[in-house]
Amino acid sequence: MRYASITERLQSLGSEKWAIHAEARHMKAQGQPVIELTIGEPDVPPDPTLLAEAVRAMHAGRYRYSNGRGEPPVVEALVRKYQKRRSDVTAENVLCFPGTQTALFAVMLGLVEAGDAVLVGDPLYASYEGVIRSTGADCITVPLRPENGFHMKAADLEAAITPECRALLLNTPHNPTGAVLSAEEIAEIGAVCRKHDLWIVCDEVYEQLVFRGVFASPFDNPDLAERTIVVSSISKSHAAPGFRSGWAIGPAEFCTRLLAVSETMLFGGQPFIADMTAYALDNPIATAAIMRQSYKARAARFAETLSRAPGLVPLPPEAGMFIVIDVSDTGMSGEEFAWALLREELVAVMPGSAFGNAAEGYIRLSLTVPDAHIDEACRRIAALAARTVAPKERRA
Ligand SMILES: Cc1ncc(COP(=O)(O)O)c(C=O)c1O
Repeated sequence: MRYASITERLQSLGSEKWAIHAEARHMKAQGQPVIELTIGEPDVPPDPTLLAEAVRAMHAGRYRYSNGRGEPPVVEALVRKYQKRRSDVTAENVLCFPGTQTALFAVMLGLVEAGDAVLVGDPLYASYEGVIRSTGADCITVPLRPENGFHMKAADLEAAITPECRALLLNTPHNPTGAVLSAEEIAEIGAVCRKHDLWIVCDEVYEQLVFRGVFASPFDNPDLAERTIVVSSISKSHAAPGFRSGWAIGPAEFCTRLLAVSETMLFGGQPFIADMTAYALDNPIATAAIMRQSYKARAARFAETLSRAPGLVPLPPEAGMFIVIDVSDTGMSGEEFAWALLREELVAVMPGSAFGNAAEGYIRLSLTVPDAHIDEACRRIAALAARTVAPKERRA
């Protein structure tokens, strides 16, 4: 049978990246004591009031068909949220999607196609290349340098631009590195985007999880309003990834044009989840603050312990739910280290290669486990590093 080329383009960009995670789950199901540090699944439940609101809404009959833009209560709550950042936001700037991932997919589909190119920092979130390539556009990487704390620099962006470039896919706070761009850096990046007439799609799913530095966004800069689209969700901020509730906020014309794409794709969302999301956005809920505090402490715990291990260099985050470790001094790639760690020490981590070429020497650890697991994981990670580094040093 004949298939469309998208199935070829995305072959190695989907679940293949999560092979270690899948193997770890398989080993756990067989009873092996694997410590899982792979995915970014919050380890706290959503606030009980969110669940109560979803249940209330279901019992109130909020399970009928919705519309393409989003249920009025959640659209209004999003207008209130983003009006605090830019006073000109109205319902015309809002589109709801089932999660940031779907928002990214639809937004890219609305901006680029075959023959175009999209710029993205490298390291990059695992799904970005697939999101870009699914449209037929090319993905052009901008180096995010460890010596700059993985912050995108305007000069590096400008050097990467080709005549085909139509958009920059920006991610701040950043996954996997946890880098948080400053307002000054964003202004410089924005100036390059204006000069080259690029869209800025800004993934802000970790907005609420900044523990060093101050969150800033091109969306907050009126000079960039006409070209900026923010995508985000309640997955991380409210520890509610399974509800699949996200959005895109962008210029009114963009939203009007994308509405037809969204309607064709989704035929609307779930009203009871919309009500729950509106409740989450409108009420003071402590979940993000709780996670911020624990992820900051856990990142410090990993960094302190693993910095004493041979061949390992922790690269502490400013935000988010991960820490990246440079394992290149062990002589192994991140991929080799991660597989050896799973097979020999029963610790599952993501190999840096899932997050672009620049991350090949790294592994990424999730901060979503309790301290006892962190301490035991550090012991096992250090043991593998010691076994790997020691023979080399003996030979030297
Ligand atoms: C940077 C980034 N963007 C998007 C997503 C997907 O988020 P959502 O659950 O809202 O689809 C994730 C999930 O880990 C992420 O890390």
